[in-house]
Amino acid sequence: MKVTKTVEETRAIVKAWKKEGLTIGLVPTMGYLHEGHASLIRKCREQNDKVVVSVFVNPTQFGPNEDLASYPRDFDRDSALCQTLGADLIFHPEPEDMYTDACAYVNIDTLSQNLCGRTRPTHFKGVCTVVCKLFHIISPDRAYFGQKDAQQLAIIRKMVQDLNFDIAIIGCPIVREADGLAKSSRNTYLTAQERQAALCLSRAIRKGQEIIKKGISAKTVLQEMRDIIEAEPLAKIDYVCMTDALTMQDVEQADRDVLVAVAVFIGKTRLIDNFSYEVSL
Ligand code: PAF
Repeated sequence: MKVTKTVEETRAIVKAWKKEGLTIGLVPTMGYLHEGHASLIRKCREQNDKVVVSVFVNPTQFGPNEDLASYPRDFDRDSALCQTLGADLIFHPEPEDMYTDACAYVNIDTLSQNLCGRTRPTHFKGVCTVVCKLFHIISPDRAYFGQKDAQQLAIIRKMVQDLNFDIAIIGCPIVREADGLAKSSRNTYLTAQERQAALCLSRAIRKGQEIIKKGISAKTVLQEMRDIIEAEPLAKIDYVCMTDALTMQDVEQADRDVLVAVAVFIGKTRLIDNFSYEVSL
């Protein structure tokens, strides 16, 4: 397994692979890899000749008062895991390798305004910009993203469609701890008491999944979910929403494919979780 830092050395490796007619899969990450990332890397390994994992804590997707400085990092551990999972290359640039006096950005309008976009107004501009850059640098055939970041996945699919990237976007299921908590690098911020409190997210998700099938209004589904979260003293709701699965606009009824998503502060840590409901199923 190789590790590259610069765009140039990464491009040279990718170019040689392309020349041999090999397919390339990309798993973009911000490192501090967990079982959720591992599931993406495994899927990528199954479907491609070459597996590239990018490990880059992308500064442009953090707001001014967010956790860029404290975001967990452990490159040696990440590298060992990638090696075990059979990755061929880790692209691990420094911020200055990726951004020098940058003034070109990729923005996506409507889809990024609801849900996480409400409290993190510049977040998806940073995500789209870095993902777009990674796509240009690595030219993958396929790229892998977790459904835990469901809005991010919808936005990237739309970006790929609107900007004509010839890249298949593969969404992979949420990976959970045994007790239901969705895996996240940010779970490491939680104290033991907060870790217990954080279970209100997955409890609310399970409740939502159970009652949405009854054909009741979004308002009723969301209220029942809210009640579960509000019963937890350490939890503070950012949002509990039901949106159209593609446009990310609020809906009043699950009469089409929808996303039901929550964002909750547990102490200072903001956690997200969601489920998709497909009427066609
Ligand atoms: O989901 C993430 O970890 C990040 O948003 C991504 C896609 C790697 C872009 O920095």
